[in-house]
Amino acid sequence: MPVNSSSESALKMIYLDNAATTFIHPDVIQVIQDSLGATKGNPSSVHELGFKATREWNATKDAIADIFEVSKKNLIFNSSGTEANNIVIQGRYFKHPHTQMITTATEHSSVLNTFKALEERGANVTYLDVNDEGFIALKELEASLKKAPTSLVSILHTNNETGAIQDVHAIRDLAHRYGALVHFDMVQVPMHAKANLKDLGCDFATFSAHKFFGPKGIGLTYIKDLDSLKPHTVGGSQEHRLRAGTQNLSFARGFLKALEITEANRTEWHAKIDHLAHTLIEKLDASSLNYKINGPALDGSRILGTLNLAFPGLDAIDLRFALNSEDIYVSLGSACDADSMHASHVLRAMFPDDEARVNGSLRISFSPDLTDADMATLVHTIEEYAKSA
Ligand SMILES: Cc1ncc(COP(=O)(O)O)c(C=O)c1O
Repeated sequence: MPVNSSSESALKMIYLDNAATTFIHPDVIQVIQDSLGATKGNPSSVHELGFKATREWNATKDAIADIFEVSKKNLIFNSSGTEANNIVIQGRYFKHPHTQMITTATEHSSVLNTFKALEERGANVTYLDVNDEGFIALKELEASLKKAPTSLVSILHTNNETGAIQDVHAIRDLAHRYGALVHFDMVQVPMHAKANLKDLGCDFATFSAHKFFGPKGIGLTYIKDLDSLKPHTVGGSQEHRLRAGTQNLSFARGFLKALEITEANRTEWHAKIDHLAHTLIEKLDASSLNYKINGPALDGSRILGTLNLAFPGLDAIDLRFALNSEDIYVSLGSACDADSMHASHVLRAMFPDDEARVNGSLRISFSPDLTDADMATLVHTIEEYAKSA
């Protein structure tokens, strides 16, 4: 069954915005529907219906913990990748309010704006710059770690706009050498790579199901030491008191199903996505278009599922509308920047002096059921737009 199989497929749209969200897999919908009907109790209730819900909750977490190679007690479900990031960053700030926190200028808005809000409360936040491929310099990270004791280094593992993968093992080692805990926002990872948290050795990792064919509205936080955070919400004792609120068992089951589907198919998807990315670049090379890749080259440290392409001289906002009117859906950057009419802060950080490049860039993100013909249509439509612009 195609991954993006849905009634919309019949409309012949070309959906190239999978980094914003993927379409929920039909098998995931089925699992959620079955669970909604079957699970009647509240896991916190002390009677058989509650015990049943708790058993299902624990079994769901156990299965996810096995895939991530961690223990289930270190996994906290919540409402989204955004909330997961808040749990870590706010939780660390409230634990050690006067200690430096380090992040980068190219984080997702759920990280960047959380730090900005904490700065208004007095947090000491250092923002690392990136080079023109989107990578931080380890030397700069070390200089910041030397400057002041640090409670958290929070870095986007795989950039949602460019696909760049940071040198996560070196970042982890460096931060740990200076006694700082490490958070990786891994929201964009599972679709493209196995998230082996044991090997990664980070202190916190955050996920969101809708980025790998799961439902929107459920996220997951990995927390190595539950005592390292203060809760960002206050209420009941669910999730070790780190995320109060009655658990969403049905969506947790959907998270697991989506992850299982992803684990089972990733190698095949990877090959298809790899092929699509190379096909797109070949077609662009053969076209009349002037373009550049924003971020690492195709053989660099990156995923191939998200390509950020600059068409200097073209207006990306206008181009996106032109593509939209042909039912080709792309984005300028993160869908979560509410006014995504504006150029991306990630590209601005990478190319501070190149307005034409920043304003002429599109994010194209793949799913495995796209075709070579879709790539040809995309390039042809951009070419036609460029001729008329
Ligand atoms: C890297 C990254 N982090 C966090 C998020 C937020 O996830 P959610 O949409 O589940 O709040 C996103 C979603 O765009 C993302 O790409």
